[in-house]
Amino acid sequence: MSVEEHAVRILSAVDRSMLEARHVIEAYFSRRPKLTAIRRAVTSLVFGTLRNYMLLDRAARALGVVGPTWGRRVVMFEAVFRDVPMSRVEEAASRLNVAGPIHEARSMDIEAVLPSNTVDRLSVKYSVPKWIVDYALRRLPEPVKFLESLNRRPPMWLRARVDPEKLARELEAYGVETCIDGELPHALRVIRGNPVRTPAFKEGKFYVMDKASQAAVYVLGDVERSLVLDVASAPGGKAIYAADLGAHVVGLDMSYRRLKEEEGLVSLYGADVDLAAADSRALPTRKLNAKLLVDPDCTSLGRIAHSPEIRLWVRPFHIRRLTKLQRELLRAAAERARSGTEIVYTTCTVTFEENEENARWASEELGLEHVEVDVGLRSHMGSRFYPHIHDTEGFYIAKFVKR
Ligand SMILES: C[S@@+](CC[C@H](N)C(=O)[O-])C[C@H]1O[C@@H](n2cnc3c(N)ncnc32)[C@H](O)[C@@H]1O
Repeated sequence: MSVEEHAVRILSAVDRSMLEARHVIEAYFSRRPKLTAIRRAVTSLVFGTLRNYMLLDRAARALGVVGPTWGRRVVMFEAVFRDVPMSRVEEAASRLNVAGPIHEARSMDIEAVLPSNTVDRLSVKYSVPKWIVDYALRRLPEPVKFLESLNRRPPMWLRARVDPEKLARELEAYGVETCIDGELPHALRVIRGNPVRTPAFKEGKFYVMDKASQAAVYVLGDVERSLVLDVASAPGGKAIYAADLGAHVVGLDMSYRRLKEEEGLVSLYGADVDLAAADSRALPTRKLNAKLLVDPDCTSLGRIAHSPEIRLWVRPFHIRRLTKLQRELLRAAAERARSGTEIVYTTCTVTFEENEENARWASEELGLEHVEVDVGLRSHMGSRFYPHIHDTEGFYIAKFVKR
């Protein structure tokens, strides 16, 4: 089978299962070890096609082709965006049964197929749903740069588990250039090279973790010898970070699959984290003397660059549905917290409903007292990180104290 056929199988599986493309790719290649040599090529084709799928459909329609399929999109992506020989694209098209005006696709002016209306044009150009474009234009700073950032390869951040300067030097010896972040103590940004292929990774001296996620643990403050209750814990990046800082962490999560993944990471890193499967909306009634981390499911609009498949299924009603869950988790945390307890609330999204409005609700309805945090861009009752401003995921952090 060709690279294109593998890419189409993976894209169809992602579309059907609504699982993360990265997970589907991981599972696909771990079942087929003989294909390791083409994994990078397939991954890049999958991501490129996802990041441009609406534009590719529009271009195909302009050439008179109807009925979008992943096969058509993959072939169009190669014809329009890739410098691969036409003979290969034609062969892929014929194997995928999507033969058509491939030569015309290669020579077409892609800008010319864009609609003239601003929202429609930006939606097709960046292949994100219209409602996200509309939301960005109305509510986010530098909205076009934000939309552009969703289709860039996101920067890679590392969370050092050893002295960051020593780690940077060790990685450099393997051709990996990093830059130590001035704001957070354990964050390194990768400038060049693949750190995951170095012995330092295998020795557990760092793991990959976006700077904004690291900030969530940073704002928990001094956690040494404290109990941290992470009510939505899996797959565990924040829990393991807090444990590395000296906390004893109890991590709860409702997803068995994700908890299994966290269990693997906790044991790999030897972290002091106890895990349990639980619905954190129904925490035990006893009051807790712990720092609480509430990092619930969200619309994940800040993660579209990492997980381009999110754009396929995220809808406005998810904001309402998830806001309800987020508030239930915040309420349960607030009701179980002892007076003086700190609660950190975070999301990896950019909607005000899931962020500032929830923080305001927590202050007004739950009586939580808002505490300033000194990271990112100050926003109402918290801080924001933006991909186009901070080179991180889109993220929100609010901190409270229970009085
Ligand atoms: C954004 S992820 C958490 C990421 C995690 N804090 C980390 O650093 O890796 C949200 C998690 O909330 C979990 N979740 C959703 N509803 C829940 C509930 N009612 N109780 C416990 N966990 C829940 C999901 O299964 C998911 O793993």
